[in-house]
Amino acid sequence: MMMAPRRGVPLNVPAASNAPIHDVRARPYRICLIEGDGIGHEVIPAGRRLLEATGLPLEFIPAEAGWETFQRYGTALPEETLAAVSEADATLFGAVSSPLQPVAGYKSPIVALRRQLDLYANLRPVRSQPVPGSRPGIDLLIVRENTEGLYAGRERSDGSEAVTERVITRRGSERIARLAFRLAQERSLGLCARPDAHEGLAHRPLVTIVHKANVLRATCGLFREVAFQVAQEFPEVRVEEMLVDTCAMRLITEPEHFDVIVTTNLFGDILSDEAAALVGGLGLAPSANVGERQGLFEPVHGSAPDIAGKGIANPMATFLAVAMLLDHLGEGCMAARVREAVDHVLREGPRTPDLGGDARTDEVTEAVIAALR
Ligand code: NAI
Ligand code: MG
Repeated sequence: MMMAPRRGVPLNVPAASNAPIHDVRARPYRICLIEGDGIGHEVIPAGRRLLEATGLPLEFIPAEAGWETFQRYGTALPEETLAAVSEADATLFGAVSSPLQPVAGYKSPIVALRRQLDLYANLRPVRSQPVPGSRPGIDLLIVRENTEGLYAGRERSDGSEAVTERVITRRGSERIARLAFRLAQERSLGLCARPDAHEGLAHRPLVTIVHKANVLRATCGLFREVAFQVAQEFPEVRVEEMLVDTCAMRLITEPEHFDVIVTTNLFGDILSDEAAALVGGLGLAPSANVGERQGLFEPVHGSAPDIAGKGIANPMATFLAVAMLLDHLGEGCMAARVREAVDHVLREGPRTPDLGGDARTDEVTEAVIAALR
């Protein structure tokens, strides 16, 4: 089943499953809100205000996670939070601070949430933005496997030798590849309907399988083999492969080449931050963690301790994450309106200091809400 073509589609990313989340006539959507640490306390309340301004029937469930939570309760991800996220239709997550040195008992809550809820896909749309510093002509989607690879959590060290195991499974590779090809199809439908698309410029979708199978023969070899098998189910989607180091370079030299990139966990993590830097930086980059039903939506940026508490964090990445959340709920029209409002304010201002302006988080939030009306 296809999603209906939508306007301004490139940032639209649906849930991994197209099944409706629930019947909204029966009860409001349940949205779990996790601020986390640092500027999470600023951007998530801004995201909540934007959600409230949509007028949709929403019920908010605040929950705690992160470093401050760990210091208070001895765990970064309390059971109540896990339960709240599991019961919600979608979660909006800010950012958490993680110590660089290992701290006994501390585990990154976002990594744990992704694994516990089997949010197997991390989707990062990267699109040229109307701000200084954004390169033109970029419209790509990175589809990153989110639960295995080098982040599978299989680590050991005896002090003189440390080992991290890289786990790649057929099942994990198959489902991420299938999602990537399906999203490539959906994006191509959307692009045809785009008002600024040239006539006759029918966009034929392209999936780039990114790996390092020449060196990591076992793990990347399996990922590559499975991804090419899945490609055969999608004859209308073009497919190519690229080594990860080449891909890192081509993202700089020729980013407009790419449509959908599918890759393993760590490679996807690195490539998506790189790609975000091409289009205005972290203040504008949203992401989605999706599974068969659950969805957790977050700005790509961290807790930004250098600006936390000053009221100047850019809320736009969170607003674009809100748009992805609305898509996930099946509220594609409202998602498109949110994106248009963000686009309008990026063009006209006000802008936060990271984008060269002098506006505060609240002023940008007000402006986006006004543009939504
Ligand atoms: P960061 O993303 O927090 O900040 C990097 C730079 O970008 C800083 O100069 C910051 O001021 C700026 N920046 C980030 N978001 C911004 C926004 N919305 N508006 C304006 N400027 C913004 O990355 P950093 O400094 O490497 O990490 C800080 C903490 O965040 C660490 O503890 C790290 O572990 C954590 N982190 C958490 C993530 C998550 O929760 N998903 C993701 C990345 C980092
Ligand atoms: Mg990252």
